[in-house]
Parts: sequence; C-alpha cells; structure tokens
Amino acid sequence: MEYKINTVGVLTSGGDSPGMNAAIRAVVRSCIAQGIKAKGIYRGYQGLIDDDVKELTSQDVSGIIQRGGTILKSARCMEFKTPEGRKKAFDTLQKEQIDALVVIGGDGTFTGARLLAQEYNIPIIGLPGTIDNDLWGTDSTIGYDTSLNTIMDCVDKLRDTATSHERVFLVEVMGRDAGFLTLSAAIASGAEAAIIPERSTVKEQIEEAIGQGRRKSKNSSIVLVQEHAIEGGAQAVAKVLEEAHPEYNTRVTILGHLQRGGSPTAYDRIIASRMGMAAVGALFEEQRSIMIGMKNDEIVYVPLSKAIREKKDVKADKWAAMQVLSI
Ligand code: F6P
Repeated sequence: MEYKINTVGVLTSGGDSPGMNAAIRAVVRSCIAQGIKAKGIYRGYQGLIDDDVKELTSQDVSGIIQRGGTILKSARCMEFKTPEGRKKAFDTLQKEQIDALVVIGGDGTFTGARLLAQEYNIPIIGLPGTIDNDLWGTDSTIGYDTSLNTIMDCVDKLRDTATSHERVFLVEVMGRDAGFLTLSAAIASGAEAAIIPERSTVKEQIEEAIGQGRRKSKNSSIVLVQEHAIEGGAQAVAKVLEEAHPEYNTRVTILGHLQRGGSPTAYDRIIASRMGMAAVGALFEEQRSIMIGMKNDEIVYVPLSKAIREKKDVKADKWAAMQVLSI
C-alpha cells in the first residue's frame, strides 16, 4: 500500500436523506473494527473548510440507526466549489491527520469529492445518499425507499379526501431533475397520471386520464407532478386544468421537505449499513474515487465520474404500468 490509512473522515453533504445516520454508524464502526480512527466532519464540506471535526467513538453512533436526518448535519457549500475553498479543506485534512474520506450525498457531493481527490491525491469513497435515486450504477440510493413510502402514505391520505369531495388533486413531488420518486409513487398509490421530466406529457393525456375515470363515474383523480417536469410545477398544471375544466374542482398539494424526513425503512437501514461497511473495505483495497452501489443485492464499485455523468433512465415497464394500470 503506497499510503497507510490511520484515520478516515466521514461527512454528509447536500440534501439530507433517511438512512444517512445508518451509513455514518456503519463507517465509524467498520473503522473501529479495522483498528483505525473515524472522524466526523460537521456540515459537509463547510465543516472541512472550517475545521469542524470530531473523533467519533462507537458510543457516539449508538441509537442513531432509526433516526432520519444526519447527526453530522448537512450543507450545500459554495466555497468548496472554489480552488481556495478546497485548499482550506485540504489544510484541515492535514491538520486533523485524516488520510481518507467517505462522503455521503448526491451528485453535487461527488463532483466536489472528485475535484478534491484529483487536486490533492486523497482517497475518497462516495456513498449514494439522496432521496432522488438519480445516481447511475446503483439500483437504489440511501433514502429513496423511505421517501417513496412517505409519498405513498401522503397520497393514500389525499385519496380519501379526494374521493369524498370528488376532486382532482395535483400532488407535487421532489426529485430535482429525475422522475424516479414520482413514477414509482404513482404506481404504488394508483395515481391516475404522472408528469415526469423523462417523458413528455401533453395536456390532452392528463385530460384523457382524468376523463376515463369520470366516464366510469369515478369523480376523483390524483396526478403526481415532478417538481421540475413543468415550469411552475403542480400550480402551473392546476392553472391550465382549472381554465379548461372548472368542473374538475382542482386542488394542489406540494409535499415539499416532508419527503426528506422520517425514520428510515428497513431497506434503507440495511443498504446504508452494507454500503458504509463496504466503503471502509474499499479503502483497504486501495480503491479511490468510486461510489459504492447496490446492484441486484450485491455491492458494486462504480467510478464517481460514471455515477455522476451517466444518465439513469426510468424503466419502460414502469412507465407502461403507471399508464395501463390506472385506467
Ligand atoms: O436532492 C434532494 C432534494 O430534496 C431534491 O429532490 C430537491 O429538488 C432539493 O433537494 C431541494 O433542496 P433544498 O432542500 O435545498 O430546498
């Protein structure tokens, strides 16, 4: 080994996701099992710049596997995007004698990690932590399953009142540029239609989806709208529908940051634990600049560059299922 790892730093960055704590716990305890130190870096890359770092013991990560959010806190750090910011981050790594990093986050987190790794030759492993599930090379990201279940629960509740009042509900779902959450939630909740960035949907298709139900005396409908699929989101879709169909009795619900909170599902806790352990194992195998992914229930190593750059598309059969089964 050309370098020896004595201390691993772990941070969470970008939008938080349920299961991040389980991943932190796994990284810390795997380090301790390997006989090395783990240091927690607070507020993502901001903490690396500001030297907001603390050694974590096994006890420090006790009782967190079931907690949403991240005990290390998170931030979107603009300064880290500059070479000066990354120099400060490197200075902290040296001062704290951190030899390698595990970063938990999404594509913004990984983009920063790649730059730091290239500029200062630091071994870095990424763990996919985002509700959006938009990273290539992994079937699921940590937090996606929990968020999906939260959305499904919310839509189930909306369905009750939509049915009572015979209304059309437009429900806005997060996902940044990706429609995975929206499409899967639409299937799971039996929504009449979904609008996602990966597929074009015209007004007539939505009218047809709602109209089919109404012709069968089903006077309530739920349409899931991915936040960035259409400029103006669910509100914009509502405006168009209200003008064309005042009889629809349209309402809008924006689920917002509810979708990011809550206790992680068993699935998220398990993948976070396996991935966290795999990250420390990968460092000992001298892996660098990779993301730990999960494919067909197996741990895989994915170059960070690919995880960020390659486009993950929605599955064709999922799109078909949403359309065909809602009729
Ligand atoms: O990436 C996670 C995510 O929740 C996206 O789905 C959403 O677009 C964004 O973060 C919201 O970011 P913020 O919490 O900064 O408003």
